Amino acid sequence: MNVPLKTANGLDHVIAADTELSHIDGEAGLLIIRGRELPELVRDFSVEGTIALLWENDAAASSSRLRIQRALGAARAAAHARLSRLLAASGGLDPVEGLRSGLAALSDDEREGEMALTGAAPVLAAALLRRARGLAPIAPDPNLTQGADYLRMIRGGTPDAEDSAAMDAYLTTIADHGLNASTFAARIVASTGSGSVSAVVAALGALKGPLHGGAPGPVLDMLDAIETHGDPERWIAHALEKGERLMGFGHRIYRVRDPRADILKAVLKTLKPNPRLALAERVEAAALKALAAAKPDRRLDTNVEFYTALLLESLGIARQGFTPTFAVGRIAGWCAHILEQRRTGRLIRPQSNYIGPMPKA
Ligand code: ACO
Repeated sequence: MNVPLKTANGLDHVIAADTELSHIDGEAGLLIIRGRELPELVRDFSVEGTIALLWENDAAASSSRLRIQRALGAARAAAHARLSRLLAASGGLDPVEGLRSGLAALSDDEREGEMALTGAAPVLAAALLRRARGLAPIAPDPNLTQGADYLRMIRGGTPDAEDSAAMDAYLTTIADHGLNASTFAARIVASTGSGSVSAVVAALGALKGPLHGGAPGPVLDMLDAIETHGDPERWIAHALEKGERLMGFGHRIYRVRDPRADILKAVLKTLKPNPRLALAERVEAAALKALAAAKPDRRLDTNVEFYTALLLESLGIARQGFTPTFAVGRIAGWCAHILEQRRTGRLIRPQSNYIGPMPKA
């Protein structure tokens, strides 16, 4: 039977999957992961506990956390053992494209499961960030947590407790977020019966765009430009007049402030003071006022990327490392959705509405 077509450009309000993994209440500003609110996850679960929850619905926080920590440590060590092959596949590319190419050099074979991929991402991302600075990679320490070891592999030297906790909070905060563009890409690929590596590589391709996970680098570019200009209100008014988007603001689902923004801002304040914070707060206030005036019918508020930029900068990560670091955290969610899609989903195959010419009779 032919169903009449109505195009949902951008798929707003289209529900394309049932999921037990995460839920966003865009009106209340809530993110729920398997029945738990984000602050609880950051406080009690960490990266490893969140992975146990997402992949296995295992909420026994401390024992599961240790089990996943060991498995991830082993996966990072295994990735390091073949790092030269992965790095060779990413030669000449910037870190986010290098991460995409390096992960694509893995096989869709069964052995490259979710744990192997989630361990490989930080090893490869850290090596690519060091390569960009002309430095050799640092081997992982399998006994550390994913967050602490990722920082260590980027910067060298075991990070202090505050920095480790901040990276852990960041990676936990961004672990999963409903059917965002990159997660949907992963589910589409998984729905065809293709492997986890292919699905994660597709997701990363979607993540890197500036309308999704590519925004935090441009947030810092914007703050630099505003600092040079000297007048946030005028710079913002001029940008909006030109039809430009303010990076770090607006969201497809949230009609209020993204709850992740406040968590990351609070984490930022646990670190040594970021000299940009005062300017960023002034820019945020000016941007919210200007956006409310420019788009009165569309509530545009601060999204996760605004304070991500400051937090990752405070942790000593160069701006070209922001999106790869996002991927290191979000890969947990991608893998959870790949597993769920395999368990419960069908081939994802929507229709298009043909608006081209018909053949002449
Ligand atoms: N600055 C200025 N105007 C904006 C912004 C912004 N940040 N965001 C949306 N608008 C405007 C649009 O220009 C549009 O105006 P119009 O109706 O007059 O054409 C209106 O608000 C609605 O915008 P849409 O593009 O329909 O909204 P959509 O839901 O597709 O956009 C998005 C969401 C892509 C995040 C958008 O808000 C944006 O571009 N933000 C800036 C980039 C960014 O911060 N990305 C990170 C998002 S968080 C994440 O993915 C992890």
